[in-house]
Amino acid sequence: MKRIAVLASGRGSNFQAIIDAISAGTLRAECVRLITDNPGAYAITRAKGAGVPVTALDYRSYATKGAYEADLLAAMKDCRADLFVLAGYMRIIGQAITDTFAGKMINIHPALLPAFAGLHAQRQAIEYGVKVAGCTVHLVDGGMDSGPIILQVCVPVLEDDDEDSLAERILAEEHQALPAAAALFCEGRLSVEGRRVRILPPRD
Ligand code: GRF
Repeated sequence: MKRIAVLASGRGSNFQAIIDAISAGTLRAECVRLITDNPGAYAITRAKGAGVPVTALDYRSYATKGAYEADLLAAMKDCRADLFVLAGYMRIIGQAITDTFAGKMINIHPALLPAFAGLHAQRQAIEYGVKVAGCTVHLVDGGMDSGPIILQVCVPVLEDDDEDSLAERILAEEHQALPAAAALFCEGRLSVEGRRVRILPPRD
């Protein structure tokens, strides 16, 4: 059974989607830890409900990002996870961590990358006037929302959408795509060739 650790900063609905997929048996893995940078994150409540151990680091209590990331790296090593899922983890991960866990971290982003990387992706999409939006699950590399793409799902942008209504429509797809990508990873069905991620057929 593969070991998954989740990093989340806030509400944690994508973390919940991972927990629910494990319970449903569609994601055959064990969620071994929630790590958060925010002791007030609602994700912590969800972890307690699911019996998932929590490491809560308080980012604001650190003097430097380097000091925080040293503790984060130690916490991640301690998980002995096969896969780290960034599920609404709102900080850019530093190079010591991306190097240590290269190929073992995935992130969900609420836009069709490479469009609208960074914060407020749904607002960026509304303001740009695109007619199609969506979400992307990708491997994490040293850049911001820049790693090889595993899955993307489209949603339409409707005439009277605002940032919130579009975010809600995208979020429903995030909750499907993130566990699905985690399952492909755990089943050994991702083959990375440069920027391209090939999805291999299921093994019997
Ligand atoms: C999601 O839209 C995710 O794509 C983005 O931040 C949001 C987190 O939501 N990175 P939640 O905490 O998973 O509910």
